[in-house]
Amino acid sequence: MRKAKIIVTRRWHEGVEAKLCELFDTQLNRDDHPMSVAELQDALQSADAVLPTVSDRIDAEVLGAGPIHAKILASNGVGFNHIDLEAAKAVGLTVTNTPEILTDCTADLAMTLLLGIARRAGEGERHLRANAWTGWRPTHMMGAMVTGKTLGVVGLGRIGVAVARRAHLGFGMRILYYNPSPVRADVVQALDAERCDSLETLLRGADFVSLHCPSSPQTHHLMNADRFKLMRENAFLINTARGNVVDPEALIHALKNGEIAGAGLDVYPAEPAVPEALLDLENILLLPHLGSATLETRVAMGMRVAENLQAFFSTQEPPDRLG
Ligand code: 8YV
Repeated sequence: MRKAKIIVTRRWHEGVEAKLCELFDTQLNRDDHPMSVAELQDALQSADAVLPTVSDRIDAEVLGAGPIHAKILASNGVGFNHIDLEAAKAVGLTVTNTPEILTDCTADLAMTLLLGIARRAGEGERHLRANAWTGWRPTHMMGAMVTGKTLGVVGLGRIGVAVARRAHLGFGMRILYYNPSPVRADVVQALDAERCDSLETLLRGADFVSLHCPSSPQTHHLMNADRFKLMRENAFLINTARGNVVDPEALIHALKNGEIAGAGLDVYPAEPAVPEALLDLENILLLPHLGSATLETRVAMGMRVAENLQAFFSTQEPPDRLG
């Protein structure tokens, strides 16, 4: 039987690439360059499957160029805002993602940002590397306490729950949450979490606000100028969700004018670009989209893509079909 032809848009872990090569007629991206619109169009017109990541924008332009040969977009990642699901469906493409396996990894990174910004870890390291440290003194680089504070979780889905669990069980934090749909009672109970009937209520009551909602038209610039004004002056914002959930101009204004104490970001509206004004601020901890970046998780994500493809090419029903 002919092996399905698949195109991997970026470099993946070598063990995963080897597995894909064993299972499929696989075209790898050996120099790991971000594929252009023309290359993505070409891939969709020549392969049976294309395996994109968050760095590939599969929009109506990419999908509308000509007859699509591919039958499946097996995306590597849980978020899928880089894919226009409607347009993909319209050209007969099945779309899959890789849920669950990156939950803990992303939650760990949210806690890294939360602890790091509260305790001024980035600033402290820059200070030390610049040879500016003159020694211990009682007033030096005082940060904010994390233990016992209140965490507001925006979006109590898988990752939101995993962050809340770490914060509550590990750091004795009180948990507030805002989630548009009801959350299972046993999940809420285990976290001793308090539901907020609006995002505004959560913002007023939290010392740390961590975003865990998907990117959608409803969540675009969810954190805007009005909402930053509702946050406490000593509060911190953590974003490991998607960049466009936060209005960058409003965030910069809030950080510069002391409306909030600081922020920790892993995601940006137009990656890899990072708004210039953020780079000059000390009260922000910036990471380059590392949410799922552990060896174990990246291997598991790649293998999950392979499982989706195997299921699709044998039964047409992949475990992680979207839409
Ligand atoms: C992934 C992510 O690494 O899975 C997600 O939604 O944000 C990342 O952690 C990325 O999306 C890979 O495509």
